[in-house]
Amino acid sequence: MAEVIIVESKDAAGALVAEEIAALVAAKPTAVLGLATGSTPLPVYRALAERRDSMDLSKITGFALDEYVGLPVEHPESYRSVINREVVEPLGLDPDRIHVPNGSLETIEHAGADYEAAIEAAGGIDLQILGIGTTGHIGFNEPGSSFASRTRVKTLTEQTRRDNARFFDSEDDVPMHCITQGLGTIHRARHLVLLAFGEGKAPAIAGAVEGPVTASLPGSALQLHERATVIVDEAAASQLKNADYYRHSYANKPTWQGL
Ligand code: PGA
Repeated sequence: MAEVIIVESKDAAGALVAEEIAALVAAKPTAVLGLATGSTPLPVYRALAERRDSMDLSKITGFALDEYVGLPVEHPESYRSVINREVVEPLGLDPDRIHVPNGSLETIEHAGADYEAAIEAAGGIDLQILGIGTTGHIGFNEPGSSFASRTRVKTLTEQTRRDNARFFDSEDDVPMHCITQGLGTIHRARHLVLLAFGEGKAPAIAGAVEGPVTASLPGSALQLHERATVIVDEAAASQLKNADYYRHSYANKPTWQGL
């Protein structure tokens, strides 16, 4: 199962993940990071930006999880724009090494296969940052997504469009389709680090960590991964039955293990 770490704040979560990434990059300067968008990973990027001067991030490669289909890349809410604004610029990354699935309609039929080929050419993803949607999605793999799926076009649920309407002028402006790394793609990353904050995520976290492994709750795919870390605040942890055990094992974790 995933290791569950319950932290007191988003900033504490961000600092933990930034420390793990710093250690990874120190050991492997050409590390490949899987990048998530949405509000959840922002504390990680902020913590990384704060320690930027003590790390050499110039040779890392990044792969975003997903992108909207048909939204111009210049749109401020395209995930290419979000990744540039929240990650590439504050961390001073080389933009040519940071990949986002191509949601352009002209090339959409082969964009998934192209993305898979790019991940493979980079040697695979070392550490994948993940959020989880209230539907239980990871990336934009909505309920019902195959555990074997690779990067492809999906239709967003109405719930996800409502959740993401806050980034747009109205819900109608949220694109209907997305292109997302599949659950099979995510599964191939060497280390999965999923973060969730707030009570709204508590049911999805309880289902993903302690519920049955089911395509109906895509986050439950983490239970099949050999190295998955789930970092949650108290509110997101509030429906976990084994929370006391997770606290106990983290308090007694051997220091050599890292995250
Ligand atoms: P959020 O989205 O980080 O904005 O809550 C998470 C997700 O949809 O995966």
